[in-house]
Parts: sequence; structure tokens; C-alpha cells
Amino acid sequence: MKILLTGGAGFIGSHTIIELDKAGHSVVVVDNFVNSQQEALNRVAKIIGKEVPFVKADVRDRASMDKIFTDNKIDAVIHFAGLKAVGESVAKPLEYYENNMNATFVLLETMRSHGCKNIIFSSSATVYGDPAMIPITEECPKGHCTNPYGQTKSMLEEVLIDVQKADNEWNVVLLRYFNPIGAHQSGLIGENPNGIPNNLMPYITQTAIGIRKELGVFGNDYDTPDGTGVRDYIHVCDLAAGHVAALKAIDKKCGLAIYNLGTGHGYSVLDVVKAFEKVNGVKVPYSIKPRRAGDIATCYCNPAKAKTELGWEARYGIEEMCRDSWHFQSMNPKGYNK
Ligand code: NAD
Ligand code: UD1
Repeated sequence: MKILLTGGAGFIGSHTIIELDKAGHSVVVVDNFVNSQQEALNRVAKIIGKEVPFVKADVRDRASMDKIFTDNKIDAVIHFAGLKAVGESVAKPLEYYENNMNATFVLLETMRSHGCKNIIFSSSATVYGDPAMIPITEECPKGHCTNPYGQTKSMLEEVLIDVQKADNEWNVVLLRYFNPIGAHQSGLIGENPNGIPNNLMPYITQTAIGIRKELGVFGNDYDTPDGTGVRDYIHVCDLAAGHVAALKAIDKKCGLAIYNLGTGHGYSVLDVVKAFEKVNGVKVPYSIKPRRAGDIATCYCNPAKAKTELGWEARYGIEEMCRDSWHFQSMNPKGYNK
């Protein structure tokens, strides 16, 4: 199939290009590089041994999107493009709602006018809020999102569900990602956050390499085995492969389908720190800080549905995730800006 990846130069998109290529699909990327760089695509080209066709454009720009669909016979879209920093979304709600909602509206309208009605959407475990059940299955009711970023994911899921309901030619796959970490085994591509990282793994790698003095562990008084937050970390290459698997659902004309993409294992913050130190032989100094507003104690999924219906399951464990995150950080101490 020919797949359009919106936001394909980002962390998850860049890894997904490689898995799509391996599976024999062809790709086109559209990205405005608001949170990524062309260098990521140059590096993907090195890994797959061919150029990555891309258009530098904003998904909200109707004329550019129309041209992409006119120039290419797109079979399906994987919609990664969006702003994703939780804290920033609280400070800049309008920018987040405007970008994430409008980009999706323009994309869906363009797809419809070109007769392309197959879409895979990057959703998030954040839509479960403080989850009503652990492990979380897809039947778990959606919860209250505490920030505009999470709200856009939850609202866009509803938009996509309604679009599919109104016209059953649409095939819509909502992928609810848990916590992607790790990097491609080559060490050429990985997570390249701007400024001070918000998420755990980039903070750990930047501490281990000496850019940050110490990791702040946000709370050790949760109702978890060691008191620190428990999450379902998933290797980004496994997550990328999950998108190739999701194309099977589209191929089978799934209508609406929703899948959790996680490993089903929960690790605490201190479990991750210990695994990282052990696998990589480096120290991660840390101190306990107050809880972070909006955090929950425990979040991990039951990934059985994706296994049964898509034949997908995560292959990598926490050791490989820690090893590959560190490999990327050590090969790229300043990220893509050598
Ligand atoms: P990322 O920021 O690395 O990638 C997103 C890409 O979208 C970037 O390259 C950015 O430049 C591009 N983009 C943003 N707005 C755009 C616009 N209007 N037009 C064109 N390009 C635009 O993020 P990621 O970690 O790769 O995440 C990909 C998707 O998965 C996002 O939608 C994110 O919300 C979602 N998600 C990510 C995580 C995570 O932990 N990384 C978890 C759950 C869901
Ligand atoms: C966060 C977002 C979520 C988003 C996901 C992926 C919040 C409330 N949720 O999830 O919406 O989909 O990222 O982008 O921000 N931690 C520390 N110290 C740090 C950083 C994190 O102790 O410096 C802890 C957190 O308290 C948490 C765990 O590490 O227990 C994971 O945090 P993080 O990587 O930010 O992911 P989530 O909070 O699960």
C-alpha cells in the first residue's frame, strides 16, 4: 500500500517508516518540522537505503494537502501529526486545540474529497484518564483528561468515530499508545526532545550523559509496590510494527477498530532507573520530589486484543528499551544537532 504519514519525521513516525518499508509498503511523509528535523528523515534514508519522499507542509494547509493527494495515490493515512507536550498544552491551550483539531479536520476533508477513507490515528492511554480498571482493556470507559493535549486525543477519537458512523466506507483504527521509549537499534534515530524533557526516559538518558544533574522522581507515596508511578513502557520499534499490523485491519475493512499498544507489563520509575543502570553500566543520580500534578499511580494495559486480531505483540523488554535509548543518546549527545 502507499501510506501517507503525517508527522512522519517525529519520534514514532520516523521509526514507523522503517517498519512499513520492511513490510513492502511505500510512504510519503508530510511534516512542518515544528517538533522535528529533516535530519531524522535523512537518517531513516540511511537505514532503509533509499530516500524518503516528503513534503514540508503544515497539515492545516488545505492547498498543500490537496496537492499531496493529487500527486500520490494514497491508500491509507497514519496520522501522527500533532503537538504533544502535556505541560505546554496547559500553558497554551488555544495553540494545542487549534493545531491538533484543525490539522485533523483538514486531513479528513482532503481524504474524503480524494476518496481515501482509511486512517490510523495516534491516540494515547491518556484517554482512559485515571483508569477504571487495571490492566486496561479497550472496554475500559474513557476517563477525564486533565490537560488540553489529552482532551484533543479524546475529542479526535470521537470525531473519527462519528465520521466512520456516518459513512461506513471509512476504516478507522484508533491506536492507544502506552509509553513509547527506546530507539532504533542503529542508534541513528531516537527521541530528540526540545529543551528540558518532560518524559521519564529522555530525562534519564540526559542525566546519565551529564546534561542534567539528577533525575527528579515525582512522588514515592503512590499505592504501588515501591511508591513510584507504574507505567507500561513499550519499545518504539514494537510500536512502529503495531502500525503495520493495524494496516491488516484496514485491509480487512474493519470499520471502526480500537487497540491498546503496550506490553502489558508495568514498571515503576525506580524499576526503570535500576534496569537502565544495570544494562548500561552507568549511574543515574536521582532524588525524590513531590508528585507531579495530573499524574496517576498506575497505568498498564491488557494487549490481548491486538494479539488476537492483528497478530501483533511487543517483542522487546525493558532491558532492550533501556539499552537502545542509551545507545541513541550516547551516539547523539546533542540529539540531531551534532
Ligand atoms: P513528535 O512530536 O516527535 O512527532 C509529531 C510530528 O508532527 C512532529 O514531527 C511535528 O513536527 C509534526 N507536526 C505537528 N503539528 C503539525 C502540523 N500541523 N503539520 C505538520 N506536521 C505537524 O511526537 P511523537 O512522539 O512521534 O508522537 C506522534 C503522535 O503520537 C502524536 O500525535 C502524539 O500525540 C501521539 N502520542 C505520542 C506518545 C509519546 O509518548 N510519544 C504517546 C501517545 C500518543
Ligand atoms: C505522559 C503524559 C501523557 C502522554 C505521555 C506520552 C502526563 C500527565 N501524561 O505520560 O498524556 O501521552 O506522557 O507522551 O504528563 N517521571 C518522573 N520524573 C520525570 C519524568 C517522569 O518521576 O522527570 C515519572 C512520572 O511521574 C510517571 C513516569 O515517570 O510516573 C512516566 O512519566 P512520563 O514519561 O512523563 O509519562 P506519563 O506521565 O505516563
